[in-house]
Amino acid sequence: MVCLGNICRSPLAEGIMRQKVTERGLNWEVDSAGTGFWHIGEPPDSRSIQTARKYGLDITTQRARQISAQDLARFDLILTMDESNYRDVLRLAKPQHQEDKVAMILDYAHPGKNLSVPDPYWDDDGFDQIYQMLTEACERVIDAHSQG
Ligand code: 4NP
Repeated sequence: MVCLGNICRSPLAEGIMRQKVTERGLNWEVDSAGTGFWHIGEPPDSRSIQTARKYGLDITTQRARQISAQDLARFDLILTMDESNYRDVLRLAKPQHQEDKVAMILDYAHPGKNLSVPDPYWDDDGFDQIYQMLTEACERVIDAHSQG
């Protein structure tokens, strides 16, 4: 799960996906990172922590890190929150094999629409909406990549 700062959107996405993967008994490794370096080492934004807590998720132990080329080799699927993240991650990817691992997460819920998860950093009200978007998208991701 990749966003810009790895403190607002992708920590929520990681928490939601981690819970769904556990519920479904899937042996998936779930992680998140940011394309930027500004918040490395920081816990998630307090508004993401609060939103997660409201829905029974504890994301407080996550720490922000920056995505690296090794992540493209290591993970099978790299899901970005918006188009800017998508372009930045593609720059790290080796053609063609690694490029094919990269997708915008909302494509799973709304194919062909090119929708982005809005950056909520400057908008206190956006976090609940983002939680709902990511919950639906994570369901679709699991549906697409798991058997039954
Ligand atoms: P995120 O949100 O990419 O969802 O973690 C942001 C966090 C920090 C900044 C921008 C977006 N920032 O400009 O520091």
